[in-house]
Amino acid sequence: MTDRQNYRGEPPDAAELSFDGLDKLNDPRPEETDFDRMVEDSLSRRGFLGGVVAVGTGAFLAGAAALRAGDARAAARAAGSRLAFEAVPAGTDDTVRVPEGYSWHIVVRWGDPLWSTGTLFDPATRGTGASQEMAFGDNTDGMALFQSGARSILAVNNEYTNRSIIYGMRDTMKPENADDVRKGKAAHGVSVMEVAQSGGKWQVVKDSPFNRRITADTPMEITGPAAGHDLLKTKADPTGARSLGTWNNCGNGRTPWGTYLACEENFNGYFSSSDKALALPPGFKRYGIRHKDWGYAWATADERFDIAKHPNEPHRAGYVVEIDPLDPKSTPKKRTALGRMKHENAELVVAADGRIVVYMGDDERGEYLYRYVSDGVYAAGGANDGLLDEGTLYAARFNADGAGEWLALTPQTTGMASLAEICIHTRMAASAVKATTMDRPEWVAANPHKAEAYCALTNNKNRGRKPNAGGDPTPVGGPNPRAGNKYGQIVRWRPANGDHTARTFAWDLYVLAGNPAVHKDDRKGSDNVNPGNFFNSPDGLAFDSRGLLWIQTDGNYSNANDFAGMGNNQMLIGDPATGEIKRFLVGPKECEITGIAFSGDCRTVFVGVQHPGERGNSHWPDGGDSVPRSVVIAISLDDGRVIG
Ligand code: FEO
Ligand code: CA
Ligand code: CA
Repeated sequence: MTDRQNYRGEPPDAAELSFDGLDKLNDPRPEETDFDRMVEDSLSRRGFLGGVVAVGTGAFLAGAAALRAGDARAAARAAGSRLAFEAVPAGTDDTVRVPEGYSWHIVVRWGDPLWSTGTLFDPATRGTGASQEMAFGDNTDGMALFQSGARSILAVNNEYTNRSIIYGMRDTMKPENADDVRKGKAAHGVSVMEVAQSGGKWQVVKDSPFNRRITADTPMEITGPAAGHDLLKTKADPTGARSLGTWNNCGNGRTPWGTYLACEENFNGYFSSSDKALALPPGFKRYGIRHKDWGYAWATADERFDIAKHPNEPHRAGYVVEIDPLDPKSTPKKRTALGRMKHENAELVVAADGRIVVYMGDDERGEYLYRYVSDGVYAAGGANDGLLDEGTLYAARFNADGAGEWLALTPQTTGMASLAEICIHTRMAASAVKATTMDRPEWVAANPHKAEAYCALTNNKNRGRKPNAGGDPTPVGGPNPRAGNKYGQIVRWRPANGDHTARTFAWDLYVLAGNPAVHKDDRKGSDNVNPGNFFNSPDGLAFDSRGLLWIQTDGNYSNANDFAGMGNNQMLIGDPATGEIKRFLVGPKECEITGIAFSGDCRTVFVGVQHPGERGNSHWPDGGDSVPRSVVIAISLDDGRVIG
């Protein structure tokens, strides 16, 4: 099930929501794509590039002429397009641009208090430990919207912090004391807050009983096969089943039983060693745990981040964390059955037989794409607590001929001693079964209208040049077709028999990003990339209820050389049925666009704008000489119609 699967959805030219919309969603119109034909015609396969969707140039040209006449929706319809908006040109402005007829506004910024007893953001100090603990965290990322009756509760990941921004008031631009570290830890984690419309604008409901901050210090329960394993036991927790905090939560997921999944990504960058001669075990090397941290300095104020003193602490991070957003007193659960890696997001699908399937990318050069299949079946309104604790992990193998298979990670297939070890050292397990090393798997999104899923492979400068951290080769080919891949691609697969639990699948590339204005070789991208929609480094992916794919980028915004003309990071919408891709949004300077959720009535889309000015060149959103801040914005059509 995807974020929007239960929502009513209609084409964007529908005047009003109706139950017909729900019927259309449940019984969508037939769509045949090049991928459909490829799957049916696998014997006469043209190779993976032949499988990439091509878009008719004539349709684009007819559409462009009518757009100039000023009727974007009519033009799109005339050209057979479901993307009924005027494309936003690439840009380098320090603002957010959306299509004509749409507007955006700020919902919440880093440092905005969630309670009236909190302190308004102070640009002079950029907050304190105490103020940050009461406020929206930094670097907004994955998010999901939940309903409690008529109330809307937004759960949002706060992935990390940029030292130059959060500590920009210091000459060193570094954390200098214990309160700086406290502030940094509190700026991480998850923010849960009620949101409501007032005067047509979504705002945080201060003091709502749903409001909650989950930080790097919040008590967590560790569940699943690795819970209680010796590798998870510490002095503070001899049970190996209770840890503190979650951090570097990147993408997200949600379950049909109403919980939020926050995915721990670059958890390694927070650990350091007070013993510079400490020997690093292979598991630390594979996951990037070193003597030095990435500048967060957490070990200076909290010794559990010192691997010389607490060598098992890093084994307690790198998981998917399940949170009940409607119960602020609930204890978040680290679900070890979903593996330990640099989790991007967790896209959950209910298979035809009721089992839960979770697709997950491990975002590192040459790491893997994973699938989890539960043992038990989902029961609406029933007890589903064990579904993310008991099941089987798989890693994907993509064959060059367009076929693929899921390789089970078990003690028998991997040679590892136990399921617990597989769940702790998941990367080694995937290496052992010789899964396909990928170009940094970011978000996975499952099409709500058919059994297929998409994964953004953001880029990989090491492709064809260097092995991954485990020494596995990264040959050019299959879904990773370009050496030194600068632009990224989106791979999609369709499980055999339309069954997400099936062992095998067929795959192709939905889009190969590139720059056709600069390159004539395979760096120009696939046929559905052109100078009107080009982009690099796809990252966030989500389907809306109409079956359109929203694509967010976290790429090179230099707007020069290989990236000339692409401008700032952006968000696009793709139609899987036709291959068409159109730019919907351009972000401010030096930001990443990441995180997306739709309101219950599909009239608003919430989008995350992360770290504007990460290199010091933005004052968004407040302008002047203000401190740049990560923001969740809300976008809607000026005429109030359905957009997602
Ligand atoms: Fe946090 Fe892979 O992006
Ligand atoms: Ca990402
Ligand atoms: Ca990224």
